[in-house]
Amino acid sequence: MCGIIARVGRDDAVDTLLTGLENLEYRGYDSAGIAIKNGTGLKVRKCSGEVDALKTGIDESPTGSGTIGIGHTRWSTHGPPTDENAHPHTDTTGEVAVVHNGIIENYATLKADLEAEGHEFESDTDTEVIPHLIDEYRRTTDDIETAFRRAIADLEGSYAVAAIVDSDEPGSDSPDGDSPDEEEAVYAARRGSPLVLGLGSEEWFLASDIPAFLEETNDVIYLEDGDVVVLEPEGYRITDLEGTPVSRETDTVDWDPEDAGKGEYDHYMRKEIHSQPTSLANTIEGRVADGEVDLEEFPAGAFTDVDAVQFVACGTSYHAAMYGEWLLREANVRTAVHRASEYDSSVGPIDEHTLVVAVTQSGETADTLAAVREAKARGARTVAVTNVVGSTAAREADDALYIRAGPEIGVAATKTFSSQSVTLALLTQRIAADIPDAEPIDDLDVMLESLSDLPDQVETVVETSRADELAERYLESRAFFFIGRGLGHAVALEGALKFKEITYEHAEGFTAGELKHGPLALVTEATPVFSVFTGGGDEAVQTNATEAQSRGAPIVTIAPDDHQAVGTGDAHLSIPDTHPVWAGLLANVQLQLLSYHAANELGRSIDKPRNLAKSVTVE
Ligand code: AGP
Repeated sequence: MCGIIARVGRDDAVDTLLTGLENLEYRGYDSAGIAIKNGTGLKVRKCSGEVDALKTGIDESPTGSGTIGIGHTRWSTHGPPTDENAHPHTDTTGEVAVVHNGIIENYATLKADLEAEGHEFESDTDTEVIPHLIDEYRRTTDDIETAFRRAIADLEGSYAVAAIVDSDEPGSDSPDGDSPDEEEAVYAARRGSPLVLGLGSEEWFLASDIPAFLEETNDVIYLEDGDVVVLEPEGYRITDLEGTPVSRETDTVDWDPEDAGKGEYDHYMRKEIHSQPTSLANTIEGRVADGEVDLEEFPAGAFTDVDAVQFVACGTSYHAAMYGEWLLREANVRTAVHRASEYDSSVGPIDEHTLVVAVTQSGETADTLAAVREAKARGARTVAVTNVVGSTAAREADDALYIRAGPEIGVAATKTFSSQSVTLALLTQRIAADIPDAEPIDDLDVMLESLSDLPDQVETVVETSRADELAERYLESRAFFFIGRGLGHAVALEGALKFKEITYEHAEGFTAGELKHGPLALVTEATPVFSVFTGGGDEAVQTNATEAQSRGAPIVTIAPDDHQAVGTGDAHLSIPDTHPVWAGLLANVQLQLLSYHAANELGRSIDKPRNLAKSVTVE
């Protein structure tokens, strides 16, 4: 899940491309590169490491200015993060440059055929077959666009590809002497990987995601699978693979460039944790009326024909989906939550009365998209609960429900977990109200009443948290365990995932009752146990925490100050008193801060943790 960008305009593209890559770096940071056309042949600069390293390289060896260019930031799938494997990749002539996000499944066959034709390969990547294919076809066709289309038609797998050609090298002798204006263009295509077109004033952008060009424009076109785009100084053309024009809607995204910046914070993750009072207020706004859930997307009666609900998701979104599943089970609705990567082998019987809810902040996670397609193929109705308007999940599912958290740049999801869980809690009550024999939560009015306090209560946690002190106190621990029951179990798993993602330390979440069935063997005085009290099953959680304490483990209670468990442990992280459904989210903010401070103490790359990327667009 790399980040690609392309730009055609009137002035120099280099800085715009580099800024775009910085804004895309949450998609992968193993290597970075750009290629510029400036009429004296392609200028390619690329290296392993982050965009900063690339900028240093360009300062030392400038590309010279050029109005047309492409760029890439990489998350390695084929070949280690080396200079050779960095994109852009070129063909043997050096006249064709390509950047790509996705996986070319038939690259080995194509590579062997091309090597037989005398093409020389320099990298281990699947992507490198594309520039060689384009070069192969431009030898036998009379124009680059056709050569590009032919090359794309040979690819199997997932791709968002952008290519430029510059044969202005003196003595370059491609057989038909491609006419220069043909080369004043970017050629691009998408299948299975995201690609958006940005409409600037006299400049056009293509990118894997909107933050890449948000500082230039927020007028966008979401490209569909099978679209081919040609960007030229005069404008852009969108066609299908055969060349037949297709029309696509233009949208204006209501994100402002500030959203894509860190503001006064050292890290996007810290900024996003602190921005939860605002993002939650946006998530809640207009969705509760007169003590009832009011979703404009799903008016009363929208779910009367539903008799079972499945949730599919990955990572943090899976933990939010557990919120939905728990609340529906409480409402006596047949429900299950599935890890999307396992869905096709665990789906069980579904039909047109099954509602499959795909939870995905990016809306681009390949495993979750595959699960949506599987569910649709089996006749189920699908809903995407996502943060990104126009994302593939939002467009492929039958309906979309947005969590409205605003752009999230930090790889570790924080504010989107809170907004997903609230959105799912509201959705479950809307569903339960429609399904015969289902009973919405009995104190729904109290739950919804206390929801309006949640943004301020999160503010209180963020402003008063002592998680930094505990992060320092337990930093040398051998492992970190998180326990809870019911909704507290989802929070324990989420707390552990956050801790693992950004500290690289051993952390695990358990349902509290499971400890004594094995994991307790791991517990020592060097393994603090963070115990989440949400108001459901707290006595049992306290018993389980005491079992760990009797093996020497330091116990950290996360509960309201007047909770009976406070004082029984070795440390305490306070949360305001609220409805059990929301208590877990307040506790989770404490765990987000704990992870953040521990990672900061350890000097970790908090926004770009090793080996990870923000949206996982490959299976
Ligand atoms: C969470 O911090 C991670 N970034 C990861 O587990 C993420 O939640 C998962 O990849 C799902 O992403 P999605 O919500 O965009 O589908």
